[in-house]
Amino acid sequence: MNAAARKRPDRALARSFARRFAREPQGLAKAPGRVNLIGEHTDYNEGFVLPVAIDRTVLAAFAARSDGQVRVYSLEFDEEDSFALDDIERLKGDVWSNYVRGVATVLQEAGYGLTGLDMAVQGDVPIGSGLASSAALEVAVLGAFQRAAALAIDPRDQALLAQRAENEFVGVSCGIMDQMAAVMGRRDHALLIDCRSLETEAVPLNLAAHGLKIVVAHTGVRRALSDSAYNQRRQECSRAVQVLAQVIAARPVVLRDITSKDLSAHQGNLPDPLAQRARHVVGENERVLKSVEALRQGDLLSFGELLHASHQSLSRDYEVSSPELDLMVQLACRLEGVVGARMTGAGFGGCTVNLVRQEAIDIFRGQVIEVYRSRTGLPAEMHVCEAVDGLRIIAGADA
Ligand code: GLA
Repeated sequence: MNAAARKRPDRALARSFARRFAREPQGLAKAPGRVNLIGEHTDYNEGFVLPVAIDRTVLAAFAARSDGQVRVYSLEFDEEDSFALDDIERLKGDVWSNYVRGVATVLQEAGYGLTGLDMAVQGDVPIGSGLASSAALEVAVLGAFQRAAALAIDPRDQALLAQRAENEFVGVSCGIMDQMAAVMGRRDHALLIDCRSLETEAVPLNLAAHGLKIVVAHTGVRRALSDSAYNQRRQECSRAVQVLAQVIAARPVVLRDITSKDLSAHQGNLPDPLAQRARHVVGENERVLKSVEALRQGDLLSFGELLHASHQSLSRDYEVSSPELDLMVQLACRLEGVVGARMTGAGFGGCTVNLVRQEAIDIFRGQVIEVYRSRTGLPAEMHVCEAVDGLRIIAGADA
């Protein structure tokens, strides 16, 4: 994106839409990426997570068509796809438009009547970086279909449908955190999600009052091997619970049901790496709840320590970090102006999340990003992020 387009991406997108489809968009759906503050690899164990929706977004400009056709153009990939709503197939390979096809499919399977669409999508959520670009795309597209057909869909169902598109149509078995954050994130707040009940609570961050910023540091390594390792971790968690269910009277069904007391008493029954995996998930759920407490008390130092403990646990017990993520965190932790740092997202590359004092942002750039670049030769980047609202749909002339 050039500088002007970055300033008003919605205007630039509306102009490209008009050029491509020779008509004005009827609306614009905007969904954010997210950075997870804490609660990693807990969502698929029905545990707790604490993500923040960030000011990196996917925009979908749209206008209804009456012939049941969908034409969708991606500015990023400079590619167009088209399909008929009554005959949607999955395209071979890892193709961006499968997310669009997937959302249309699950909406119709759930009984929602859709109208055809012309649509142009554009985003600035870095892809494959652990910032949930796929969820942002799914949720923006879902917003476009929903508004064009005037459908009422409850926010939780929006998130569940977007997740179903990814799980069942695209074929990636993610949890629910990313889609919930993209739908329900709240400006200046983190979102505590109970991934069992899907209840949410917006937790005030008050970062400005503490003179802090959220800094996302990209290792310059796209997430690699993550799908197979992610599925493997999920299976290890299920196996750990199956073993524990034989020895714990309360018969846990998922790791969410296990307390750290139960685990210490019974972890001798678990062979490694199952004991390590269970230790991470059980400890991480507790760290999320403690983090919320610390944020409520304005105790940012304790929150920072919890972030640090989360990283250690992900690196040593859950084994989803990488040498690059560990280095980025280690460089950040040396700085006085950094309150907390950890890897964020699925792992194996992507980004770290850092809480940095405002006056230390330039020092962070020099002492973390530049030092990391010179040690690894990798194109690291940093983004200073704001916590923003989830899905917004702007209709009509404003689009
Ligand atoms: C990916 C998945 C999420 C979650 C995280 C790990 O981002 O999409 O559902 O499992 O990994 O916390």
